[in-house]
Amino acid sequence: MNLVLMGLPGAGKGTQAEKIVEKYGIPHISTGDMFRAAIKEGTELGLQAKSFMDKGDLVPDEVTIGIVRERLSKDDCNKGFLLDGFPRTVAQAEALENILSDLNKKINFVINIDVDKEILMERLTGRRICKSCGSTYHLVFNPPANVGVCDRCGGELYQRADDNSETVQNRLEVNLKQTQPLLDFYETKGYLRNINGQQDIHKVFDDLDQLLGSLNA
Ligand code: AP5
Repeated sequence: MNLVLMGLPGAGKGTQAEKIVEKYGIPHISTGDMFRAAIKEGTELGLQAKSFMDKGDLVPDEVTIGIVRERLSKDDCNKGFLLDGFPRTVAQAEALENILSDLNKKINFVINIDVDKEILMERLTGRRICKSCGSTYHLVFNPPANVGVCDRCGGELYQRADDNSETVQNRLEVNLKQTQPLLDFYETKGYLRNINGQQDIHKVFDDLDQLLGSLNA
C-alpha cells in the first residue's frame, strides 16, 4: 500500500505512523525525521535544513523533493510506503506525481488526520521523544510509565528543538496556509480520506486500520 499521511503539526502523524508501520510493515518516510537525522550527522543537507526548521519555516521545495525522490527509489519501497509530512505544498504534490509516475507507482490514499488547530499547541509543547528508538509520548495525553524513560526501550526522552511555543506558533501559521490548497488538490483527484484526529490515540488508529483494511477487501 502506498500512503500519504497529512495533518497539521501535532495532529498525530508520527504517532499513527508508528502503529501503521508496526502492523503493515511498510517503510515510514518522514521528511522531518530525515532532516533531523541529517542535522545530527552534520551533513550538507542538515546544514541546509537547520535554519528553516529552527524558525518553523518550510525547507525549500527543491531540497525536500530531492531527498524524497532518492528515498522512494530504494528497494524497500517496492512493498509500499508511508509518506509522513510530505508533500506539504502543491508544488511538492505535483513533484510527487512525477516521481511516482517515473517509478510506475500510484498513491492509494492520502489520509488527513483532522484536528482543530486550538489543541495543537498543548500537544506539541508537551511532546517527548525517545533518543534511542524515536517513540513518541505526551506528558499528559500519553505519558511513559516512568518519567523521562521510554517504555519500549528504556531510552532517555527529550523535547524537540522546534517544540517551544514561539516556533510552534510559526509552524502552525506556515502549515495552515499550505494545507487547504493541498487538501483541495487531493480531493479533486479522489485520493483524500479524512480521519478524526481528536479521538483517543487508539481510536484514531482503529479508524485508520479500518480504512487500510478496505484496500485488501
Ligand atoms: P515534521 O517533523 O514533519 O513535523 P510536523 O509536521 O510539524 O509534525 P509533528 O512531527 O510535529 O507532529 P505529528 O503530526 O507527527 O504529531 P505527533 O504524532 O508527534 O517537520 C518538522 C520541520 O521539518 C518542519 O517545520 C519543516 O521545517 C521541515 N519539513 C518537514 N517536512 C517538510 C516538507 N515536506 N517540506 C518542507 N519542510 C519540511 O503528536 C504530537 C503530540 O501529540 C505527541 O506528544 C503525541 O503523543 C500527542 N498525540 C498524538 N495523537 C494524539 C491524540 N489522538 N490525542 C492526544 N494526544 C495525541
